Amino acid sequence: MKAILLAGGTGSRIWPLSVGTNKHLLPVYDKPMIYYPLTTLMLAGATEILLVTNPEAQLSMQKLIGDGSQWGIKIEYVIQDRPSGIPEAFLLAPSRFHGSPVALMLGDNLLYGMGLGESLRTHVGAEGAKIFAYQVANPSEYGIVELNQSNKPINIVEKPSKPTSNLAIPGLYFFDHSVFERAKELKPSPRGELEITDILNSYLCQNLLKVQILERGTAWLDTGTAESLLAAGEFVRVIEERQGLKIGCPEEVSLRVGLVTTAQFYDNLSNIPSGSYKKYLQSISI
Ligand code: G1P
Repeated sequence: MKAILLAGGTGSRIWPLSVGTNKHLLPVYDKPMIYYPLTTLMLAGATEILLVTNPEAQLSMQKLIGDGSQWGIKIEYVIQDRPSGIPEAFLLAPSRFHGSPVALMLGDNLLYGMGLGESLRTHVGAEGAKIFAYQVANPSEYGIVELNQSNKPINIVEKPSKPTSNLAIPGLYFFDHSVFERAKELKPSPRGELEITDILNSYLCQNLLKVQILERGTAWLDTGTAESLLAAGEFVRVIEERQGLKIGCPEEVSLRVGLVTTAQFYDNLSNIPSGSYKKYLQSISI
């Protein structure tokens, strides 16, 4: 499956943390933020990922992730010069991507839950668009979806001041190939950006949008503000310390989903300096 991972933007909401580095390289406890959505996409079956970064971040991002071959995937990079909205990613994607279904994930979103990878794999390649809904206490800060009594979507709004639903839309979307054409039709919103909710509404109008409510056992965290960044780090630390298992570890995920052989996994280990991360990888029994 092809996927787009969005790691552009200016990180204005966490200034000055984002001045010297790209927000998506900041730590969420023991790993760079980008590892979490990246591994979610790997668990969902992505093998070809387009990583959208801002110009300053591309080199650091390449240093961290490379071309993905060490984890059995292919990573390509594209630059978003200025933050013009999430759907711009579809316009920046190389023509090879057009004509294929694609998953899109925002680089500051963290999803964690039992059997999530397996469940995400079922969404790949379906006709139309598939999104998730997650109950939150602060719906005005997100794109929200209103459902009717049969849980069918009837309304989607970006950051409403008076929300008619407390179901936020997490930053993981599955689209059919038509998303690339739909993105070309978009006009900037009053805040001057192309809005992902406009893409979703174009599917909704044609009755081609499916919504799955994420179970309450699933954790969806975004890490776009100082508070949410700290909360996400604490969440990861508590779960990892309790279970002795890491969240968002690409070396481990690549082995578990069969993207690399055991020999490749151990080869990757030889390039990791001694420390707790390496110790953990040495300890996992598959
Ligand atoms: C973006 C989207 C919003 C979505 C959110 C998820 O908002 O525009 O629809 O609910 O991501 O994190 P942002 O947080 O980038 O302002």
